[in-house]
Amino acid sequence: MKLVMVGSESNPFIKTGGLADVVYALSRQMAKTGEEVSVFIPLYSGVKGKLKEHEKVAECEVHMGWRREIANIYHEKFTGIDFYFLENQHYFERGTIYGYDDDGERFAFYQQAVIEALRVLNYKPDIIHVHDWQTAMIPCLIKEKKDEFFKGTKFVLTIHNPAFQGIIYRESLGDLYSLPLELYDNGALRFGEVVSTLKGGIMYADKITTVSPTHRNELLTKEGGMGLDTVLALREYDFCGFLNGIGYEEFNPETDPHIAKNYNASSFVSGKKRNKEELCNRLNLKNKNAPLFSLVSRITWQKGMSLVFAAVHELVKHGANVVLLGSGEYQSEREMDRLHMLYPDQVAVYVGYNDPLARIIYAGSDFFMMPSLFEPCGLGQMIAQRYGALPIVRRVGGLKDSVINYDGNNLETSNGFGFDEFSEWEMTRTCLYALEQYNKPEVFKRLVKNAIKTDNSWEKSGEQYHGLYRELLSR
Ligand code: GLC
Repeated sequence: MKLVMVGSESNPFIKTGGLADVVYALSRQMAKTGEEVSVFIPLYSGVKGKLKEHEKVAECEVHMGWRREIANIYHEKFTGIDFYFLENQHYFERGTIYGYDDDGERFAFYQQAVIEALRVLNYKPDIIHVHDWQTAMIPCLIKEKKDEFFKGTKFVLTIHNPAFQGIIYRESLGDLYSLPLELYDNGALRFGEVVSTLKGGIMYADKITTVSPTHRNELLTKEGGMGLDTVLALREYDFCGFLNGIGYEEFNPETDPHIAKNYNASSFVSGKKRNKEELCNRLNLKNKNAPLFSLVSRITWQKGMSLVFAAVHELVKHGANVVLLGSGEYQSEREMDRLHMLYPDQVAVYVGYNDPLARIIYAGSDFFMMPSLFEPCGLGQMIAQRYGALPIVRRVGGLKDSVINYDGNNLETSNGFGFDEFSEWEMTRTCLYALEQYNKPEVFKRLVKNAIKTDNSWEKSGEQYHGLYRELLSR
């Protein structure tokens, strides 16, 4: 089958979050099973320098209201996938990839450019798989414009982050998408008093998925639906939750070149000890034998930072070390700095993103904190498990589906710690319980082994997506 993935980011070219990991890893998995896979992303500044082929292969023109904009198309084959990059300097050559007043216009352009590019390349996909609000209007555009070129093409939308809904004004439907305002007035794209492009995807895609079974069910409730519950209820039978995996070649403590000593499920005791020493040396943590709690994350309200901050004080009192890495919201970054100033020998902070350091953190820590307010899937807890750091999570979304809480009775099967209520007290209590287990070497070792052996590969979820595509094509 001819599968086209359309994203606003993808590894290994550009990444701000888990979306980039998933677009790439899922494509790779499908290519491995023998499918013909293409990935489309914008050519942001910085991406061009990473390309080996510098010649553009074609160009296309997009008409948006009074605007005429060109997209230059670049191509590169990478790990069996055809990557297409759409270049438009005005929209994409900027300091960051999101966060501009005209994001609605930028991605309206991008989506129409993808459609035009496929036409110019004369490439008719069997499946177009779109991801999040930035690409969610593609099914609507093609279906509403009754585009003959795409006759027979089926559409899948995956929701990675429902908190971002792609809000634009009613009038923008005509101005940016050349769609009739009737689609607002009849409710198809209307979301309160505005338009949501994410809702557009939900209404027009043939199948909708999100990134864990639990998050699927949460999205169908009023409390967890972020306003989308009633829309999703209309599509309940076409809506499924498949748990993400992580790239098993990419995240492998046995081969990872960034860590101090490689290890696996049988050699982890000495391997992790060595990595912990290295981490403590690099970050000036005094006691290299202390239990170590870490966090690697985008620093946002979604990730439950206030709960982490509360727990840090107690952990430090109990002699543990803490390492926090990530960037994001100003207030939380300052709080990270403050904790380091308060406890310079026990709390290390890195504000920013640094992949090699992140890997030593996974390899060198005993526990990995992730008490999210909501978490569609979460990849950090899975990487942590593979590197033998026990996740401490709030049991929501994909965290609930991937972490089995150790309750004192299930040593054979558990691979982390979990709690339910979003409270500082619950987080602190769970961290201290985890610390108690650290002091029982046989229990702790077994839990770490279970974590390392947990299957978080893409095999299973890849098969679920594959099944979904096949089902659509057999209709
Ligand atoms: C978003 C979600 C995260 C998920 C990722 C990949 O970043 O917040 O939970 O793991 O997308 O699907």
